[in-house]
Amino acid sequence: MSREGELSYTEAIQRAEASITRFPLIPVRGIPLMNYIAENWDSIWAFRPDPSDLLIATYPKAGTTWTQEIVDLLLHNGDAEICKRAPTPVRSPFLEICSPPPIPSGLDLLKEMDPPRVIKTHLPFQLVPPAFWENKCKAIYVARNAKDNLVSYYHFDCMNLTQPEPGPWGGYIHKFMRGELAWGSWYDHVKGYWAEKEKRNILYIFYEDMKENPRREVERIMRYLDLSLPDEIISKIVELTSFKNMKDNPMANYSCVPAPVFDQSISPFMRKGEVGDWTNHFTPEQSKMFDEDYEKQMKDVKIPFRTLI
Ligand code: A3P
Repeated sequence: MSREGELSYTEAIQRAEASITRFPLIPVRGIPLMNYIAENWDSIWAFRPDPSDLLIATYPKAGTTWTQEIVDLLLHNGDAEICKRAPTPVRSPFLEICSPPPIPSGLDLLKEMDPPRVIKTHLPFQLVPPAFWENKCKAIYVARNAKDNLVSYYHFDCMNLTQPEPGPWGGYIHKFMRGELAWGSWYDHVKGYWAEKEKRNILYIFYEDMKENPRREVERIMRYLDLSLPDEIISKIVELTSFKNMKDNPMANYSCVPAPVFDQSISPFMRKGEVGDWTNHFTPEQSKMFDEDYEKQMKDVKIPFRTLI
């Protein structure tokens, strides 16, 4: 696979417009973030949510967009038309994204919206603006198994021409293991929210559970939001948020982001939406090496991840 991914990536670089830059990473309190986030860090850290705001937090590519769509539909009684009022990042702003144009700044979008707002972040727990916890905001954390998360991130870094270059697949695995990708270590990310979930009343859910039984997980989110919707509306939400329907929904599939930023001809944003796609990418040696390192990095906390269903 890596060859296939790398080839289309190279072609895309050649096609990319000169004005689009792959932004370098700068550490913020030890976490590598795109330079424009680091430069705007003080205003991000100072953000004051309303107590009614909801945070959706994830490591990149763990199922953020899917969860945003489920939440938007739950909050709007399953009304598909209302939930097509704007693309995902406008309905549910991305807190720390502030550049490049034409992606609107999360903080600017939030200023224009009345609470309750649904706010997306990829920040690790310790970098989430403290006012979220002071104000006792609700937060949903979605975790995805490491290997599938890594594969999805690799394809995303190939097609998102503003993220740092992924480089060859084999090296990318090592960058992931060392926590060198944008937003830092997957291991610390999933463990950071896990450690805080009781104290902060964070709903911690898993991508694999959503795939296994989407209705059960939609209902779990519904209860967390103190909502109670009739069965037929829940069925409708499950259907509207299927991979196929979201892939075909221009307000959920990121077709709003122009090709010089997200080149979906390299890899669609709605790529496969499967559990276990890592088996198509890792060689047996890579898998063994990854698993050994995983045991070490995760030995202090047992989080019930599943790799295959
Ligand atoms: P793949 O690259 O494995 O296909 P995020 O929204 O956090 O960026 O995550 C994107 C990943 O979630 C992609 O994974 C994408 O295909 C998958 N995804 C998005 N919507 C989905 C849905 N409705 N059902 C299953 N997977 C979905």
